[in-house]
Formats: sequence, C-alpha cells, structure tokens
Amino acid sequence: MVNVISKTESGDIMIKQPSVLLKRIGKMNPTSVSEFVALGGFSGIKKALTMEKEEIIEEIIKANVKGRGGAGYPAGRKWKSLYHIEGEPKYIVCNADEGEPGTFKDRVLLEHTPLSIIEGMLIAGYVFHAKQGYIYIRGEYRTIQKVFETAIENAKKAGYLGKNILGVDGFDYEITIVSGGGAYVCGENSALLNSIEGKTGRPRIKPPHLAEVGLYGKPTLVNNVETFACIPVILSEGSETFLDYGTKESGGTKLISISGHSKNRGVFEVGLGTPLRDLIMDEQLGGGSATGKPLKFFHIGGQSGPIAFPEQLDTLYSYEDMLKEGLAIGSGAIVVMDESVCLVEYIQKVFEFFVHESCGKCTPCRLGTTRILELLTDFVEGRAKEGDVERLETMSNQVSALSACGLGQSVNKALNSCLKHRRHEFEALISKHGCTLNACQH
Ligand SMILES: Cc1cc2nc3c(=O)[nH]c(=O)nc-3n(C[C@H](O)[C@H](O)[C@H](O)COP(=O)(O)O)c2cc1C
Ligand code: SF4
Repeated sequence: MVNVISKTESGDIMIKQPSVLLKRIGKMNPTSVSEFVALGGFSGIKKALTMEKEEIIEEIIKANVKGRGGAGYPAGRKWKSLYHIEGEPKYIVCNADEGEPGTFKDRVLLEHTPLSIIEGMLIAGYVFHAKQGYIYIRGEYRTIQKVFETAIENAKKAGYLGKNILGVDGFDYEITIVSGGGAYVCGENSALLNSIEGKTGRPRIKPPHLAEVGLYGKPTLVNNVETFACIPVILSEGSETFLDYGTKESGGTKLISISGHSKNRGVFEVGLGTPLRDLIMDEQLGGGSATGKPLKFFHIGGQSGPIAFPEQLDTLYSYEDMLKEGLAIGSGAIVVMDESVCLVEYIQKVFEFFVHESCGKCTPCRLGTTRILELLTDFVEGRAKEGDVERLETMSNQVSALSACGLGQSVNKALNSCLKHRRHEFEALISKHGCTLNACQH
C-alpha cells in the first residue's frame, strides 16, 4: 500500500507525492492537451488501442476497481456485461452530479484534471464502439462546466475526440456536457438518464437494467467521475500496480472529502486499506479535532451511509473491511463531529434532507421519511415516549424495504448504526423528556 496524500482547501491544492489520480495537479494547465501528454496523459488510450477489447476489460476486472460513485459495484464486471449485450448505439455516461452532502471529491478531478476523465470516457467509447458520451455535471458547478468544456474543445482540436481518433478509422466519438437538474435524486443512475433525456429526474423501476435499456432505451454504461479517472491508470500502469495502491480486493486509491469538526478539511487521496483512524487523526490527513473537544462520531459515505464511532477507528478503509464492520465507503465523504453535537439531532437533520430530496414516486419514501422526521423531532423536543425507539427502527426499516431506489432503500443506514451502537442516547431523551444539558454525553 502506498501512502498517498493530497489535499485541497479553500481552492488551494497541496500535493504530497506520490499521488495517483491527482498526480498532475499543480504541474500543468488543467485543460492543456500538450502539457497533459507531456506528463503521460493519453497513454492509457494509446495502450488500449494495442489491445483486444476483451483484454482491456479483463485488465479492469483484474484491477478490482469498485465503482467510486457510492454503491461500489465492480467496474470490470459492469463493463463485461455491457460488452456482451447486443444493440447499437451504446452510450457512455459519466455521473458528475455529486449532490451528496459532505461529498466534494469529484469537483477536484473535474476542475483540475478534466483530461483524465475524458481519457477514461474515451477508453469506454473505444471498447463499446460508442459514438456519443455524456457527462452530467452538477448544475451548481458552473465554473467547472466551463473548464470541462474547454478541455473537451482542446481534446477535439488535438484529435482525441471527433472523427477517426488517433488515426483509427471509424473511431468517432464525442462528449457532451449536460448540466445537472439540481436534485440529489438526479445522481441516481436511472433518474440521471431521464434527466438527460429531458424528462423529470425520477428513478426508473429496475429491471430492466441500464446496461440493456439505458439512455434513449439503448445499452448504456454509467460510471462515476473517479471510476473513469481510474481507467487510464489501470491501462497505462497495469492492473498489478493499481492493486498495489490499495488492497487485493479493493484496488487503487480513493479520494475522500473530510469536513465538519476536523482540523484539516478538504479532499485527500489515500491508498485503500488505510486505517480509518489515520484518515481522521493523522496530521497530514484529517488531523483530529479542530475544536479541542473529543470527537464523537463520523458520518461516512454520505447521508445514506452508516455512522462510525471512535471504537471502530481501527477498521481498514477498504470496501470489504468497512462492510464487515457494518460501515461503507459510499461516496467517500467523512463528516467529523465532536461531542458538542447531539447524535439524535444530527439524525433529525439527516431525515430533513431525505424528506426534502425524496422524489415522491414511492409512498413509503414520500410519507415514511416525513413520519420518521416527526418522531425524531419528538425526541429532540421532549415528547418521545416509551416504545418510540422501536417505532423509529421499524418505520425506517420498512421505508428501506419498500422503496424503489437507493435513496429510500438507504434511509435506515445512519439511524440503524446509531441504534446499534448508541441506543442509550435515544433512550436518554425519553427518560429525560428531551435534551437537557449533557443528556447526550457519555
Ligand atoms: C439518491 C442517489 C444519488 C446518487 N448520486 C450519485 C452521484 O452524485 N454521483 C455518482 O457517481 N453516483 C451517484 N449515485 C450512484 C449511481 O446511482 C450509480 O451507482 C453510479 O453512478 C455508478 O457509477 P460507479 O459504478 O462508477 O460508482 C447515487 C445513487 C442514489 C440512489
Ligand atoms: S425511493 Fe424515494 S427517491 Fe427513490 S424513487 Fe422512491 S420516492 Fe423517489
């Protein structure tokens, strides 16, 4: 495992070498093709052109790269199943919606190394013989959309997009930017495709899967920004090297975004398999508490991820180790909270978010999240009564079991992790009739 640390804060980029995905940041103009090529850029696509398409997919499978958008689905397996699906045209879609609170890692790639993402999408275009790729960039990232547009124009002028790319007859491929619809649910892959098609950004019922019936009803690949940025690294450096950056089962590095009461806040690149404690406490990473107060809990992977507690910090930050501990890497977010924060009130805010962002298509998600929020508010304001902890648990599990998309299906994760590890903090609010000073401290 390499020790890879990179950081951005207030727009400043500080890189401690060696890094992998962020290695060119600060060394080149982000949209200059010639500077990108001088630093090894586009060597992944050049390597791909010397390989059989199935060989490219096998290399991605061997690299054990898990999708970086949240669900952690193996990218190689996704590519392989799309490859074997009949039907033309096939579309390539990059998910750059990044609407998950506490998550801001893709913006660093989009703004500072857009050509790496273009190269990843280009390799996908080549493998699937696609003519058209789309990148769906969060609507609020206006400046970044402009940077990305310039990168596309420059790649086109240099012959890396357009017709007969790199002199290969019939390798014609374009990338178009679509501005995000401004809702968290638009990041869900099927809602995102609806939004690109100009429809309301609501999730579709699956199956059929997007690999078969995707954009405009055609076979489609949807991957996250960071996943696409990993592809050229795998091809140019080889799957063995990529695996060495992480663990055997979780290849590569991971971008994490640390926020909250952490001393250092920003985006960092770490080798998968680094202990969670290092991510949060190491002086070159999170750096521990900013306030001097003890740290109380860590919301990991986004709003739909579980919450970790100090006694879990020896867990290794890999897809498998986190899962074994009931945690998840998710979107790469780590929100650090000190002991001044009431855990129950924090969960209440998480549900405010779900209520706001539910698209309303499924009744359990639309109404259930509202009922849970009301009950959590009873806890915070001193009206909760005996049996309400169990009611909370039942309702959130039912919403998750009966919802159609990942938003509703994940609403129970943060709450369940708190009930498993800190049930007494919820019970204390019943016995003390609402939060009194120190009611939540332990
Ligand atoms: C409510 C919701 C929001 C999501 N938002 C994003 C997002 O902003 N970016 C992203 O890459 N994936 C997001 N996802 C996950 C996507 O549905 C999909 O799994 C991902 O884009 C696939 O890419 P990957 O395999 O490379 O991770 C979201 C999922 C849900 C349920
Ligand atoms: S689970 Fe919620 S967000 Fe997802 S489709 Fe149903 S109502 Fe919409």
